[in-house]
Amino acid sequence: MTRLSLVHRPRRNRKSEAVRALVRETRLSPDAFVLPLFIHEDPQDAEIPSMPDVLRFGPDGLLREVEGALADGIGAVVLFPKVPEERKTNDGREALRSDGLVQRSVRALKQRFPQLVVITDVALDPYSSAGQDGIVGDDGTILNDETVEVLAAQAVSHARAGADVVSPSDMMDGRVGAIRAALDEAGFTDVSILAYTAKYASAFYGPFRDALDSAPRGGDKKTYQMDPANAREALREVSLDEAEGADMIMVKPAGPYLDVIRRVREATVLPVAAYQVSGEYAAICAAARNGWLDERACALESLVAIRRAGADLVLTYFARKAARWLRDPLG
Ligand code: PBG
Repeated sequence: MTRLSLVHRPRRNRKSEAVRALVRETRLSPDAFVLPLFIHEDPQDAEIPSMPDVLRFGPDGLLREVEGALADGIGAVVLFPKVPEERKTNDGREALRSDGLVQRSVRALKQRFPQLVVITDVALDPYSSAGQDGIVGDDGTILNDETVEVLAAQAVSHARAGADVVSPSDMMDGRVGAIRAALDEAGFTDVSILAYTAKYASAFYGPFRDALDSAPRGGDKKTYQMDPANAREALREVSLDEAEGADMIMVKPAGPYLDVIRRVREATVLPVAAYQVSGEYAAICAAARNGWLDERACALESLVAIRRAGADLVLTYFARKAARWLRDPLG
């Protein structure tokens, strides 16, 4: 055998787990995870068939889940309500009720866990009889400015209940600025805005819509959510959300949009969040349940890839499992 005369042998930096750990560029830690939580009015928790290991929580289950998440090292949650069909209207006015499900849940969480970062979703879809994020006009279009007015009131209502961060996921134009102005006007200058800045019209939201029964009743969301083919357009949204006062910028989904995360990372100094959505979670879980993929390894790899692409924080349904896997690398 002739020994190659190689000055550079990159394998030296991979020769043991301890060496690999020294040179590792990206680390996963539970404090960068945000746990999305589904809630409903029923006292019992319910399973979500298309999302294994994810429950929709009643009031007691919610508190127990959050207690567990905090013990796992996760400091932030985002709430998504399932609203009974009979309370849904075109204008989504149920969203503004001061004793609505989200408002009550925020109060209960902040009272029991004052240190928890409670994030709320600002959009009308769970409350919309049409399953749209905004108000539907007579001609079927989604009315931008009318919707923004309701969203600003929804954000203030969440702030009043004690939300630390409000997170507009609706993709209406001008909503970040309107929400900032409304929050400030109501005295909530310390409530942050995590803006869904580049939210794509993605087929990967399917299981989420099952969980909340919030799918559009006919039609789609393509006149407000972004075209999956576009990346430059995301940078336009970043400039607008920055100028309107967003505190953090989000890209969603995450895994199929790593290039967008990277470009957004390079375009802003604001913290960048990425949402590993329900379909990304379900795909890994489904393959794992068939014995085709290793859930733990694939989940951790997908999360490190999202962080490597440039996300500072990651919203993920794997948050608690990943926190436990990271704590117990051999378990
Ligand atoms: C709705 C909203 C959606 C998600 C978060 N907020 C669905 C949608 O836009 O239709 C999806 C999250 C997921 O799939 O995990 N405003």
